[in-house]
Amino acid sequence: MKQGFLWGVAAASYQIEGAAHEGNRGPSIWDTFSHTPGKVLNGDTGDVAIDHYHRIEEDVKLMVELGVNVYRFSIAWPRLFPQNSQSIEQQGVDFYNKLIDTLVAHNIEPVATLYHWDLPQYLEDKGGWASRDIVYAFEHYAKTCTELFGDRVNKWITLNEPWCTSFLGYYLGIHAPGIKNAASAVAAAHHTALAHAYGTRAIKAVAPNAQVGITVNMTNLRTDSDDPETKLNWQLVDANQNRWWIDAFTSGKYPEVLVKEYGVLLSQVFQEGDEKLLKVDNDFLGVNYYCDGFVGKARITDRPMNVHSPYPINRTANMDLPETEFVSRTDFNWPITPEGLGNLVLRINRDWSEIKSILITENGAAFNDGPNEHGEIEDHRRVDYIHSHLESLRHAIDLGAPVDGYFAWSLWDNYEWAEGYSKRFGIVYVDFDTLKRTPKLSFKMYQKYIAQTRLALNS
Ligand code: NOJ
Repeated sequence: MKQGFLWGVAAASYQIEGAAHEGNRGPSIWDTFSHTPGKVLNGDTGDVAIDHYHRIEEDVKLMVELGVNVYRFSIAWPRLFPQNSQSIEQQGVDFYNKLIDTLVAHNIEPVATLYHWDLPQYLEDKGGWASRDIVYAFEHYAKTCTELFGDRVNKWITLNEPWCTSFLGYYLGIHAPGIKNAASAVAAAHHTALAHAYGTRAIKAVAPNAQVGITVNMTNLRTDSDDPETKLNWQLVDANQNRWWIDAFTSGKYPEVLVKEYGVLLSQVFQEGDEKLLKVDNDFLGVNYYCDGFVGKARITDRPMNVHSPYPINRTANMDLPETEFVSRTDFNWPITPEGLGNLVLRINRDWSEIKSILITENGAAFNDGPNEHGEIEDHRRVDYIHSHLESLRHAIDLGAPVDGYFAWSLWDNYEWAEGYSKRFGIVYVDFDTLKRTPKLSFKMYQKYIAQTRLALNS
């Protein structure tokens, strides 16, 4: 870790803001989805979330206390453009101005994600990410955000985890908009990649010195077999989750193996000239890492795919990790594989020479520990999780991986999408009834880790 390393925390609009009906905010696909019975655990919605909308001062104070120098947040598209893609809602602009100004006043650099899954419902009604029109709507939205906030925001992330947008949203249907259609999912995978390239160019046209990247969710895929069928599945799953968006912006080409697999599903949305449009220079790659994955022979004990089990169309790649392979798991049942973070950034460095800078834009774990009799939250498992991932990263950086920042997910416990409020990822505990915030032990550990690393670098 060099001087100037970015130490941060991350969060996203729908997961924390609440105030769903304030400031003339329009409905997003997550409002519709979460209010549809049976879609989200316990019927939880983001209507109130952790009420960050009304608590900017208090929440930024926590960041100051923690000692971070960057905060990654997302802009809610339906706050800025609640009714249509033309008329800007001033109250939405005021809210983000207040947040950005408060951060800047405290020397915390704002890092803005443009799209973290809360698509305006009116855009979904026109086909959402399955329709090419979304690319041009996103381009306009990216340009507008840069004009509004680009004097203070210099780091932009176009899209967060487009794999989830495409495959959880349009194929498995377990995220908004809840569609289960292979053609829509492949179309969304193409349109998110295109939107990223259009968005990057739109930002740079307004602010040539802005730093722009995309955030992808990546994993290392372990395997216990090298039979040809498993090998092919490995390549497909790897291409589907790890390579698609990176290959697109670095080379304008999708992985051959998937082009073949998707066949007509892709060719019917891929227009002539798209190769040129997909390719774009970026300043960094954002990587969200939670755990390693597994591709092997189908076993009788395999459960159906879970949130972190990507698989390509028409394949039954088995993504569950064998019970015996990992000792511990989080309360989300995700395996804990800290060495994977280091391995992953080394792989990126090896495979894509175009990528000169990596930001770990999310890393963290769901552990549901609550307050003890003294009101303290001793989340030792999260302390171990974050600490071991940071050490793995440090080792990879020493070996040459170009990593320039790390953002813990998340500062606060918040709304975990289809899991509602049942999974706590925060280093700050939130009482979901009173909305009181209490830093956990992991907050103190991260605070100390940042301070000690800074000290060592200065000495
Ligand atoms: C990825 C997403 O970007 C974030 O919104 C989510 O809460 C975390 N991972 C944990 O699942």
